[in-house]
Amino acid sequence: MKRENIVLIGFMGTGKTSVGKRLAKKLDWDFVDTDAAIEEISGMSVSEIFRKHGQTRFRSEETVLIKRLMNDKKKVMATGGGTPLKPENWEILSGTGIIISLYAPIDTILERIGTKNDRPLLREGREAAQELWLSRQPIYNQADLIIDTTELDVDEVVDEIMQKIEGRIEL
Ligand code: S3P
Repeated sequence: MKRENIVLIGFMGTGKTSVGKRLAKKLDWDFVDTDAAIEEISGMSVSEIFRKHGQTRFRSEETVLIKRLMNDKKKVMATGGGTPLKPENWEILSGTGIIISLYAPIDTILERIGTKNDRPLLREGREAAQELWLSRQPIYNQADLIIDTTELDVDEVVDEIMQKIEGRIEL
């Protein structure tokens, strides 16, 4: 199996986009953020898609997009927090790259997100967020690598990834 990309997964607010951008720069690879790509293609924000067309529609847009990206090479892909949950998506993602999960506890995440919360799935308060976070951990834990970002800034996460992927992927 060829794994010529890096796929970042993890709960909302774990830093997939910031880490992905900086990692891509360091590797001199392209960067793609699946949420941003869907927004660009549809001309709507993720919240707008959820509001106007529902989550199911957003999820099918995600699958269509990652199918289109699966033959790419030397790409760092930051996925949405829900992308790896669909078994079909997991199969596509793990076929295309090494899967790296960014971990943070729910309270750290909520602290990081603070008041600039534009995520449609994080509007129901702490308990609902924790429930969602808990239910997703078994999936995130299936990644090839797990990076605990709790005490790390973006550069430190990137450094840890660089160290850990050495020898596991063609750079
Ligand atoms: C979602 C995470 C969001 C976005 C959408 C749904 C999720 O992406 O795809 O709001 O189900 O966890 P981020 O993880 O980049 O915030």
